[in-house]
Amino acid sequence: MKLTADMSAVVTGGASGLGLATARRLIERGVSVVIADLSEERGNAALDELGPKARFVKADVCDTDQMNAVYDAAEALAPLRALVHCAGLGGPLRVVEKDGSPGSLEKYESIVRINLIGTFNALRLGAARMAKNEMIDGERGAAC
Ligand SMILES: NC(=O)c1ccc[n+]([C@@H]2O[C@H](COP(=O)([O-])OP(=O)(O)OC[C@H]3O[C@@H](n4cnc5c(N)ncnc54)[C@H](O)[C@@H]3O)[C@@H](O)[C@H]2O)c1
Repeated sequence: MKLTADMSAVVTGGASGLGLATARRLIERGVSVVIADLSEERGNAALDELGPKARFVKADVCDTDQMNAVYDAAEALAPLRALVHCAGLGGPLRVVEKDGSPGSLEKYESIVRINLIGTFNALRLGAARMAKNEMIDGERGAAC
């Protein structure tokens, strides 16, 4: 899609890694960016780097009210036309721990929740907002 200075984007997990790199690129193209991330410390550090076109909203991608606050913040800057969903958790997870005990179900549930439920939640709420946008060059927005 065309990236322009009169649009906003939401980047989840934007305080670190893939999300922060994405936020940098969007801002280089003039897009206003709202970073949604759990980490306030990294979110504020990212803002210092990204400058005045960026906002940070502390949010859990699994939480509907918090994600709606993120999209409200983006729409207050400019029409929301892009969502890049990078929030997630990786890392190793053992079925059997080294001491012979069963792997952690809580850890597994937390990873599934963030990576699956959070992805659907962030995408459904963002896409529903963008579906109301005026069509420009055949597009209302993009979510990935
Ligand atoms: N970096 C890679 O090469 C790579 C490759 C394949 C997949 N991934 C996956 O992509 C995702 C992002 O990777 P990364 O390297 O940028 O990781 P990262 O840890 O650097 O960044 C992830 C960000 O997501 C945030 N986050 C975690 N849970 C959240 C939640 N519930 N709500 C809001 N924010 C939350 C974290 O605070 C962090 O800032 C991860 O799921 C990772 O497993 C990364």
